[in-house]
Amino acid sequence: MKLKTNVTKLVGKVIVPGDKSISHRSIMLGAMAYGTTVVNNFLLAEDCLETVILFKTLGADIEVDSETATVTINGGGLQSLTQPNEDLYVGNSGTTMRLGLGVLSGVPFMTRFKGDESLSKRPMERVMAPLREMMAITFSEKGGDTPPIIMLGTSRLRGRTHKMTVASAQVKSAILLAGLSATGETVVEELEQTRNHTEQMIQQFGGELTVSDKTIRLIGPQVLTGTTVVVPGDISSAAYFIAAGVLVKDSEITLPNIGLNPTRTGILNVLESMGAQYKIKNKTEGSEPRGTIKVCSSDLKATTIEGNIIPTLIDELPIIALLATQADGKTIIKDAAELKVKETNRIDLTAEELNKMGAKVTPTEDGLIIEGPTPLKAAKVSSHGDHRLGMMLSVAALLVKDGDVELENVDSIRVSYPSFIEDLTNLVESK
Ligand code: S3P
Repeated sequence: MKLKTNVTKLVGKVIVPGDKSISHRSIMLGAMAYGTTVVNNFLLAEDCLETVILFKTLGADIEVDSETATVTINGGGLQSLTQPNEDLYVGNSGTTMRLGLGVLSGVPFMTRFKGDESLSKRPMERVMAPLREMMAITFSEKGGDTPPIIMLGTSRLRGRTHKMTVASAQVKSAILLAGLSATGETVVEELEQTRNHTEQMIQQFGGELTVSDKTIRLIGPQVLTGTTVVVPGDISSAAYFIAAGVLVKDSEITLPNIGLNPTRTGILNVLESMGAQYKIKNKTEGSEPRGTIKVCSSDLKATTIEGNIIPTLIDELPIIALLATQADGKTIIKDAAELKVKETNRIDLTAEELNKMGAKVTPTEDGLIIEGPTPLKAAKVSSHGDHRLGMMLSVAALLVKDGDVELENVDSIRVSYPSFIEDLTNLVESK
């Protein structure tokens, strides 16, 4: 697809779709709970719909109203799920597979999880090892780390203490979801604090857990009750408009109702340290705070991003790399080796694709070094099937003055934001 280039300014408001992480969890907890759960502003994108399909395949009563982005789940508790007579195919969605394994470790039947080409290369032992310690039988069919994954759950799951070896909200969440049906105490000691939507939502469904520093404790088994979940806009999707507004001269973009959970807002800290201008308005408090983000064009300076901020902006690193290509000086991103095992190797491919456009990005073992500012030029680029690379490159194209930017595999954006290109184009005033 030929991307919009040579844009003079971006002005207007974008209603960013619902948060992906929260949408996934609302379906899982809704299906594990007793009673009705209503999810408002559910993310109607491929990834979250994989979670809906998975739980429907397991017999859960779920209705999706696409007009209103509302999902209704009539939950009958975890034990009402039934053994499917087909494989559980979850497409590109790592969250569906990893958290789904956690849920299904607590039911006494066997399932076989499969994913698309990208997911079939992603590490699953990090989830299977702790679930095995809790007494589930689970293994990679190929004998290694990657899908297809067999899960033989049990109604005799045991709580255990897990010391995390990677900073991963998906692994933590899989363990906590298993802990809900395990007997005894499940403890997760995090390496770094990662997004805490699972902890927040378990409590919203009437579950109990304690969090002290980086340790989460939950005593099972627990009975959850259906509730109403109002999903905020996804800050990881908003990030592309934030970057676009900062980078394109004379722009002003308003993004209402964005989730501002502090375990997700690392990008805002980075914007501040780069000198970007933004404001937060109408902020609500609560377990999943939200507010309006307003950004306008700004001159940027380089920064260093490392340590415990990394999990709070892990999905935003490709778009932060783009910001850094336009910042004055050398931006260093470290401690982000996890980027190599996302939907693609985002360290190598962020560098490769931005360099095609004339940027100076060097991949390292655990991050990126970006020298700026560099003008971006026309090129043929690819998302490599990774939604976040596709969206980042669409924003990069806006800055190209002459010639075309051709994006291969634009369809991958559907994974988290089907109307992204349309929403971006609606802000554009081109020459
Ligand atoms: C997610 C956690 C992160 C993130 C992913 C969604 C979640 O993955 O990259 O997009 O919903 O828990 P990891 O747990 O692998 O860091």
